[in-house]
Amino acid sequence: MNSVIANQTFSNNSGLHEAELIAEIKALSKAKNAVILAHNYQIPIIQDVADFVGDSLGLSQQAAKTEADIIAFCGVHFMAETAAILSPTKRVLIPDLEAGCSLAASINLEQLLQWKAEHPGAIVVSYVNTTAEIKAESDYCCTSGNALKIVQSIDADREILFLPDMFLGSWVQKMTGRKNMHIWMGECHVHSAIPPSTIENKMQEHPEAELLIHPECGCLTPFLDRVALLNPDDRLKVASTEGMIKSAQTSSANEFVVATEIGILHRLEKENPTKKFFPIDAEMSCMFMKMITLEKLYNTLKNEVYQVTVDEKIAQRAHLAIERMISIF
Ligand code: 13P
Ligand code: SF4
Repeated sequence: MNSVIANQTFSNNSGLHEAELIAEIKALSKAKNAVILAHNYQIPIIQDVADFVGDSLGLSQQAAKTEADIIAFCGVHFMAETAAILSPTKRVLIPDLEAGCSLAASINLEQLLQWKAEHPGAIVVSYVNTTAEIKAESDYCCTSGNALKIVQSIDADREILFLPDMFLGSWVQKMTGRKNMHIWMGECHVHSAIPPSTIENKMQEHPEAELLIHPECGCLTPFLDRVALLNPDDRLKVASTEGMIKSAQTSSANEFVVATEIGILHRLEKENPTKKFFPIDAEMSCMFMKMITLEKLYNTLKNEVYQVTVDEKIAQRAHLAIERMISIF
């Protein structure tokens, strides 16, 4: 632990320069056998210092298989909770406990229990952006990467309660043609704010570009056909954040309009230096994701804060739904 600055009281004005902070983070991480996981929306420097960067599904998979003692989770609270459920013997730490999610906050336990009572026998499919107690009351969890496959795997005669994202739910319903699917009217404040006209204007500005669009986007379902018309060469990909990364790598297109949170541009540009990426809106930023900073990550590893734990009974019940999410992708 030679290079770890011992007994130094942390503050945002610690006096450490960026390069020193990075060196300390790496040294602490090694000394404490920690793994740093970061979501694709994290600020660039956090992505660069992380051991693994990915979408909700990929981060859950990493958390489930890690041999590290500590998981430093650079993302939002429900993601760290999912990691704690999947790796109960590890210490899961989040650099800022206030890093929540407006979508996860759009349904609470009482509301779900009431909804289930109104539809006895229905299968509950919860998007991973939910709290642990909502997952515990769910049959399946899903991410934007596998929501379609999960709904397709459920017996066509069974009613489905899909929550909490109404845009993802409507898209899945449209793609599956499923009539017996009820959708919770929740939304993410970042993605729901994109009006369809913004997408159309941007595509007209970049007629050669492929459109990468996240299924949480507010404009998705009502205007999918219209947007598709603007892309007669099938240059439209509805994908999770990791799906977007893969699409950009494998596509023959050289330009992309990106309809999701701007944090993803860092990886897209870094991994595809010859291609051009145009954000649908350069201000499209998730304030919760942006709460994680290098200083806070340093504090997390140094002082082993802030631990995210889940009540054992809730964790046990949520585990099955999450396992199903991980196994179907
Ligand atoms: P992904 O699982 O596609 O990374 O999405 C997570 C999220 O919070 C989107 O807003
Ligand atoms: Fe939640 Fe939206 Fe932020 Fe994703 S972008 S973490 S759904 S608030």
